[in-house]
Amino acid sequence: MNQTKVFAHRGFSSQYPENTMAAFEAAVKANADGIELDVQLTLDEVPVVIHDETLDRTTSGSGLVQSHTVEEIKKLSSGAWFSQTYKNEQVPTLEEVLVWSKDQSIVLNIELKGQISDRYKAASIIFPLIEKHGLEEQVIISSFDHKVIALCKEQAPMLETAIIVFAALFEPVPYLRKVDTLGYHFYYKSLLNEEIEDLIKRGIRLRPYTVNDDHQIKKFIQLGCEAIITDHPKKAVDIRRYYYN
Ligand code: G3P
Ligand code: MG
Repeated sequence: MNQTKVFAHRGFSSQYPENTMAAFEAAVKANADGIELDVQLTLDEVPVVIHDETLDRTTSGSGLVQSHTVEEIKKLSSGAWFSQTYKNEQVPTLEEVLVWSKDQSIVLNIELKGQISDRYKAASIIFPLIEKHGLEEQVIISSFDHKVIALCKEQAPMLETAIIVFAALFEPVPYLRKVDTLGYHFYYKSLLNEEIEDLIKRGIRLRPYTVNDDHQIKKFIQLGCEAIITDHPKKAVDIRRYYYN
């Protein structure tokens, strides 16, 4: 059985400002296997790494991400809200993260956020960017918007994909087949252990989010999930080391 991977949710977001280079670098240092990051388009259609639809919570700016140009967004601090230590952090562009990741042995789980009306636009910008940097083997594209995941398979079939789900699906296997993906990123409280075991047996790549509690981390490792998505990558790596040794 393969070791369960540890994906750092928004980077090492329990100790660093989420979705910043500081959080991504810290995740690599903590020996995470992957980084989950949220991507949406600016007004001038540049993919940037930020979770919320608005700038208010995690930057020094305010208003919708999609109403600002990348130049405007780049002037903001994306770390000061967390601590003055990180006041010089900026909202990364996806391309900055892609370029940085080339020298890291880390999986990038790119979660596509943003407007449903932007699906085709996002796909036509983001997938070629991944190909341009030769990172097809290093990324997993995921989204709560399952239409964009199906679109990914049509437009960039070589990319690994996953759907994100909050409440359990009624018949996940035929549904996943229909969307043409094996990746199922589920809210960690939404599936029973026997459902998880059954899905793993059927070849589904399960990655629960956001798993921060020690017992839950251990449980998903024991069950054999492909990865866990956590704000505490260092702790998860330590728990995993203990479990496999
Ligand atoms: O990708 C899993 C998880 O990040 C989905 O929820 O809101 O943290 O992006 P959210
Ligand atoms: Mg996310």
